[in-house]
Amino acid sequence: MSHIVLGITGGIAAYKAASLIRLLTEAGHSVKVIPTENALRFIGAATLEALSHNAVDPDLYSDIDSVKHIALAQEADLCIVAPATASFLARTAIGIADDLLSNTVLATTAPILIAPAMHTEMWLNPATQSNIATLEGRGINILSPASGRLTGKDTGVGRLAEPEQIFEAALALLQPQDFAGKRFLVTAGGTQEPIDPVRFIGNRSSGKQGVAIARAAAARGAQVRLVGANIPSVHSRNIEFIGVETAEQLSNSMQDLENFDFMVMSAAVADFRVTSPAVTKLKKSAIGDRMTIELEANPDLLAGAVAKKRELDLSCVIVGFAAETASDDSELRQLAAHKLMSKGCDVLVANDVARNAVFGSDSNSVLLLAQSAIETRFEGSKDKVANDILDILSNL
Ligand code: CTP
Repeated sequence: MSHIVLGITGGIAAYKAASLIRLLTEAGHSVKVIPTENALRFIGAATLEALSHNAVDPDLYSDIDSVKHIALAQEADLCIVAPATASFLARTAIGIADDLLSNTVLATTAPILIAPAMHTEMWLNPATQSNIATLEGRGINILSPASGRLTGKDTGVGRLAEPEQIFEAALALLQPQDFAGKRFLVTAGGTQEPIDPVRFIGNRSSGKQGVAIARAAAARGAQVRLVGANIPSVHSRNIEFIGVETAEQLSNSMQDLENFDFMVMSAAVADFRVTSPAVTKLKKSAIGDRMTIELEANPDLLAGAVAKKRELDLSCVIVGFAAETASDDSELRQLAAHKLMSKGCDVLVANDVARNAVFGSDSNSVLLLAQSAIETRFEGSKDKVANDILDILSNL
């Protein structure tokens, strides 16, 4: 649990702070809300207290003996201001401290995340842009406003970033940035090999664990290319998403291995493809009671990546996955150890898909083996397992 100070300034987007508070508290964080006097014209203190489960008292001069602004500033692991008005940006840029929020922001040494919201003209005004540059120059994180519907009938840039985006940016700031400057290639999902334009041979991988790894790596500072086989696209800071269907397309999007520090091959790649997929839909009446489909092997992409790493002497750490149906833990260990050797990857993450509910589930239980004699088990939500795997990678 982290201690978060959430400042709200006076703009129509103040109502969106309610959703942000809910996201933060539901993720287990303690949130202390500091609205400015003008913010309270747009959203009530009762709403903020009820959602944050903490008292809201923006008066700088109440409770003086507790030196509120310093206590809040020192306790905070992160300070968010959303929405931030042009006036707040200007006052913060020159260090004015005349209310509880501005005093707290000036006093804190925690990371600061500011999400501005205002009309397009005010946002584009050179005064505002120069204040933004000043704040960024001091290491303050600015989440630029989006383009869209503004307060009136007008549209343009200046709309507050969505609460989910602010939440994600906040989580990233709370994470250790141990993968800053590192590049990840993550594959996720399951490939589908066409039989005809409507049918395919596929598998049951949901891609959730791979997506969790991509998101966790991005939150920890990495630049991530996520190649998703038949999964919904992921839009997130630091993630470039490439959607593919077949093993061949997946292979095409991972040819530049030399550009990556880590490759996480969590996609379930079809071992075989249909030799000659039909161009038009196969009609049942024309097939009869039996049908034979000729399959040919797909290349093993993981083994290919390991061979390329060796050939070009790359330093990329390669992580393979294995979905096994073992009868017990010792058999899973044996199968995993064999796959680690046969594939030649640096790390192998194995799960037992026979005894555990893995496909599509939000939790996972895995055995991780590494060439460097590491053997460890992780279980919990796929997000937790993702971070556990990354902890091992960051120490390799
Ligand atoms: N893999 C791959 N290319 C393939 C098949 C698998 O890159 N054509 C990768 C998967 O992405 C995964 C790892 O190999 O990281 C293990 O996949 P798995 O299906 O468990 O292994 P197989 O090689 O198919 O072995 P087996 O079917 O014998 O268990």
